[in-house]
Amino acid sequence: MNILILGSGGREHALAWKLAQSKKAGRIFIAPGNAGTGTAGTNLNIDPEDFASVKKAVADHRIGMVVVGPEAPLVGGIHDFFLEDEFLRNIPVIGPVRSAARLEGSKDFAKAFLTRHNIPTAKYKTFEKTNSFEVESFLRTLEPPYVIKADGLAAGKGVVILEKIEDALAETDAIINGKFGNAGLKVVIEQFLKGIELSVFIITDGKSYKLLPEAKDYKRVGEGDTGLNTGGMGAVSPVPFAGYDFIQKVKVRIIDPTIQGLRDEGIDYKGFIFFGLINVKGDPYVIEYNARLGDPESEAVIPRIKSDLFDLMEGVAKGDLEKRDLVIDDRYVTTVMLVSGGYPGHYEKGYEISGLGNTEQCILFHSGTKNAGNKVVTSGGRVMAVSSWGNTMNEALAGSYSNAASVSFRDMYYRKDIGFDL
Ligand code: AMP
Ligand code: GLY
Repeated sequence: MNILILGSGGREHALAWKLAQSKKAGRIFIAPGNAGTGTAGTNLNIDPEDFASVKKAVADHRIGMVVVGPEAPLVGGIHDFFLEDEFLRNIPVIGPVRSAARLEGSKDFAKAFLTRHNIPTAKYKTFEKTNSFEVESFLRTLEPPYVIKADGLAAGKGVVILEKIEDALAETDAIINGKFGNAGLKVVIEQFLKGIELSVFIITDGKSYKLLPEAKDYKRVGEGDTGLNTGGMGAVSPVPFAGYDFIQKVKVRIIDPTIQGLRDEGIDYKGFIFFGLINVKGDPYVIEYNARLGDPESEAVIPRIKSDLFDLMEGVAKGDLEKRDLVIDDRYVTTVMLVSGGYPGHYEKGYEISGLGNTEQCILFHSGTKNAGNKVVTSGGRVMAVSSWGNTMNEALAGSYSNAASVSFRDMYYRKDIGFDL
């Protein structure tokens, strides 16, 4: 069966790399993909949010399954578009329908869902123009710092953490008044939770689920977790502090009630759920839900899946995931993201990447790369993720770092301290 993967980052390269190994998979197409995905399958120059073009690609390439990488097409309703279309109706989409993607697309929806189902999360309240006069009194019930979140998708820039109540008031006001356009007509203000974060992933057919490997992501650009937030500078899997007892708590307190909650609300969830969690003194709390896999977490998580990922996706499509096998590699996988100098601020693109053939015992998952003639050049802030295996975290990191040093492009930067806190 031919598969179409939507997206263009390292996560989609990891998905393409893994699905291409399945004996049951036919040809792999990636839209729009990057220079790396082009080595695992065939890139199609299509915008994943242009559903009419996606439909045409499905027909032209006799696609039998669509795997959605990023959140935007899910929140935009691509799965619903398939279900409502006579020609597309029977083609499975791995990724939830719009009503379920709201778990990621609306922080207010996610917090209300968590609260309805008694799932541990930070105390919160949602504000909009009509109740904005209550913001200050709510802030006074919280201890600083204050966590202020725009309700909708804001390209990862919608969350700020502020020490002073005046700043929190000003930020709330700015968001309510359109700082993020429609993404911010509502604002969620939360209690600040102190702990260490991790990302937990499941794949579900809406009835049962399989727990995928967890990972820790490094979001800040600078070493020691300093500087601006990025899409993610590296990841480690497994997470040493997420032992058996902790993961049991995650299952019982968070994953099971999430699946049950979706069922109770009549939402048929088919795809991945990414639980952004924080470990507060041994107890897990939900910081956020995402309706997809993480990036760069996927570049550490997917290489640890030994079983056929296509078989699991077929289980999602057919609703018999329970009968499918998931075998996980016990070894560590670490990934280090090579980024363009200046990222996440201004950076240049179009620099030639050299040394791609010099790496060994690692996988280079491309993110912001493209082909230019017979060269591979940079085309984004996050350029590629260097993933390596090891029996210990340090062994895996040594592989990621020695291979990172084999690749080069002008102004290349990467964090040298991934895993420093574990
Ligand atoms: P989100 O987009 O909701 O994941 O928030 C972005 C980042 O802000 C998270 O990864 C956390 O580092 C931080 N954050 C969000 N909510 C909280 C909270 N309630 N307490 C502490 N940190 C938070
Ligand atoms: N690495 C975090 C994310 O994918 O949202």
